[in-house]
Amino acid sequence: MTHYTGLIAHYQDRLPVSATTRLISLGEGNTPLIQLHHVPRLVGKDVTIYVKYEGLNPTGSFKDRGMTMAVTKAVEEGSQAIICASTGNTSAAAAAYAVRAGIKAFVLIPEGKIALGKLAQTLMYGAQIIQINGNFDKGMALVKEVATHAPVTIVNSINPFRLEGQKTAAFEIVDELGFAPDYHCLPVGNAGNITAYWKGYSEYASDSATHKAVTPTRPVMCGYQAAGAAPFMAGKMIDNPETVATAIRIGHPQSWDLAWNVQRESNGWFDSLTDTEILAAQKLLSQFEGIFCEPASAASLAGALRDIQTGKIPEGSNIVCTLTGNGLKDPDTAISQCQDTHPVTIDASLDAVKKAILDAM
Ligand code: F0G
Repeated sequence: MTHYTGLIAHYQDRLPVSATTRLISLGEGNTPLIQLHHVPRLVGKDVTIYVKYEGLNPTGSFKDRGMTMAVTKAVEEGSQAIICASTGNTSAAAAAYAVRAGIKAFVLIPEGKIALGKLAQTLMYGAQIIQINGNFDKGMALVKEVATHAPVTIVNSINPFRLEGQKTAAFEIVDELGFAPDYHCLPVGNAGNITAYWKGYSEYASDSATHKAVTPTRPVMCGYQAAGAAPFMAGKMIDNPETVATAIRIGHPQSWDLAWNVQRESNGWFDSLTDTEILAAQKLLSQFEGIFCEPASAASLAGALRDIQTGKIPEGSNIVCTLTGNGLKDPDTAISQCQDTHPVTIDASLDAVKKAILDAM
């Protein structure tokens, strides 16, 4: 068996690299596509649901797919430094891939609004962290502006190489299933990822070599936002987004036009979920399937389940939900949801342990 060396090496024919490009990789991609066994039974509908568990990427989120590509190209173009604004995951990925490349990373983050695990990662990788007393949207605007004044390459998803890397998740799904799903559900923040998946499915669909094996060729794309941060539902940018799912606490999506295009071309839709619905889906996935994702990721499943229940997604469908980030990213939100399941504290004796087990049986 050949050693897996990351998604650029694996899909190099479909990515903008040459034989001499130095690949900056941490072995990202090739993440599990897990069929849910218990959740469909709970909703009582005949559907097949898979989750694409992107939390198993090297820094724990789908951002690694885009970052391997963006940093590879930045280095190829001679850049010495990268910069991003972030709700946390992009900063962790940018920091890690900058280390791997031997270049500098600057990250702008909203003070107090990024999950603990993401902050820990970014600190450990040694990026230059710039906290701002403003939200992601403000940080993004500043990054765009400063990049015109300083020798730094932006590695947010407005960098087209990010989407190139991220489109490989769609390739992996089609390669594994042998077909594209009927519906693909994603959490939406800047809407870069939903755009990248659509690009991936579309490229495979238009390729005669893969086309024959693939029916349907492309899924209906369903994008889900948090109710307090749902510009696609509002039909306009919003200024003070709020949600417990801090990863998607975004009011000014950077891929606005691209995402509306995906919605139109795929006959898909956007919808929003309350924080309560998002957290319920996160817990459901943990407690019924053994899969721990971060809150934002659970918006994809929460949305899918609602649309399955109402029949908008019909019975008989194959559905893929992308779980964009690992549950370990946000331990605070996880623990605060489990207040009713406090660990029992007992004497360190055999009798006490025996009693604790028998009491719980
Ligand atoms: N899920 C997670 C876990 C994310 O971190 C993000 C975006 C999204 C979903 C939304 O993806 O923006 O492509 O629509 N996080 C960015 C960041 C903004 O800075 O880490 P999108």
